[in-house]
Amino acid sequence: MKKKKGPRRIILKAPWEIEKLRAANQIVAEILAGLRQHLTSGITTAEIDRIASEEIEKRGAKPAFKGYHGYPATTCISVNHEIVHGIPSDKRVLAQGDLVSIDLGVILDGYFGDAAFSQIVGQSGSDLAKRLLSVTKESLYRGIAQARAKRRLGDISSAIQRYVESQGFSVVRKFVGHGIGTQLHEPPEVPNFGAKGTGPILKPGMVLAIEPMVTAGSYDIRVLDDGWTAVTMDGSLAAHFEHTVAITDKKAEILSDGFM
Ligand code: MF3
Ligand code: CO
Repeated sequence: MKKKKGPRRIILKAPWEIEKLRAANQIVAEILAGLRQHLTSGITTAEIDRIASEEIEKRGAKPAFKGYHGYPATTCISVNHEIVHGIPSDKRVLAQGDLVSIDLGVILDGYFGDAAFSQIVGQSGSDLAKRLLSVTKESLYRGIAQARAKRRLGDISSAIQRYVESQGFSVVRKFVGHGIGTQLHEPPEVPNFGAKGTGPILKPGMVLAIEPMVTAGSYDIRVLDDGWTAVTMDGSLAAHFEHTVAITDKKAEILSDGFM
């Protein structure tokens, strides 16, 4: 989500609500797992979006992004130097070696699911693209490892940032993760940068969408004239991984598990 201002309270979810969130997120995970198989050269991003829409419908859910502040599609599909919020298009044909990020949100029974992955099309990715993927994914899991009761939100942010920067990459500042529940975006914002030991204390019942966006160059971004597609200012490659997780009194539960 886009970074915005304004302190609002973090909503704790009851166990039955966590189950609703799990159900929504499991639909996202199943569909993302299926979409991976379709990421072959020659397919258009609009075709991928169509498949996602059909799969959502089959499962009795609804797309979460379509119509959100006017967003026109079911998925966000962002290629190479596009970071997030790429709009699927009939004109965008994927080729071997493209680094593609797919973000999908659904709503089921009033509760939201949200997750994303990046992948290279075919076997022919550059070493840089492969390293960027593995570092971004690993940073997500390092963030999740900090998502535990009694720790602070900044522990998640800092774990992601430190790892990414130690590998020579940058974390995007203009977009952040978020709380999720009966809204796609709830408090708190979950930045992928920040200081350990700062921010709200994590509590069981908090549900967070953690979503590092990482670039191979600088973290500056700009949004294209379509009003959505966020790209790296310097044209460097970008990757994005996202899981929705529930804080418990042990390890966080990855509600969207099953597609990475
Ligand atoms: N996972 C992204 C986010 O939380 C996807 C939002 S796309 C939008 O910002 F269209 F809904 F904005
Ligand atoms: Co999100």
